[in-house]
Amino acid sequence: MAILPIITAPNAKLKVTSEKVKSVDDGVRQLLDDMLETMYAAPGIGLAAIQVGIPRRAIVIDLGRETQPEGPLFLVNPEIVWSSEEFLEREEGCLSLPDQYADVVRPSEVRVSYVDYDNVRREIHACEILSTCIQHEMDHLEGILFVDHLSAVKRNMIVRKLAKARKQAQYATA
Ligand code: NI
Repeated sequence: MAILPIITAPNAKLKVTSEKVKSVDDGVRQLLDDMLETMYAAPGIGLAAIQVGIPRRAIVIDLGRETQPEGPLFLVNPEIVWSSEEFLEREEGCLSLPDQYADVVRPSEVRVSYVDYDNVRREIHACEILSTCIQHEMDHLEGILFVDHLSAVKRNMIVRKLAKARKQAQYATA
């Protein structure tokens, strides 16, 4: 396993649409293992492959032992097959937008079809934070960040803060 560098916004790669995975073979499992280790080290609760620069439809999620006792979730080629008519507002953050948080409105529950770590097609019904997390990570596969759900004013404010933080970091290491 290896810890991979996480891409942060603004970066054109975060806007690309990721491609379907043909089959979850050993190479894809290696990627999923590396993504999980990277996410734990960050630390974070969800990570999409494009965040480590790989445009494939692969996601890892671990909400912690209390919320997700069955352990990490590997979602390959996920598709939302049903979403609730009720919506929920929850604060979101993203490893690609360090230290930035904002409330995002999304369907409160979703049913998702996906291929698992063993290349088996499965379905999961998600509510609460898992629902938010899955939808957030699935957005990454379409090149969408959580700030894209906000008003232009709020989004620009966050993007400016990130650009400033990056500039300061560059000066600090120069
Ligand atoms: Ni994210």
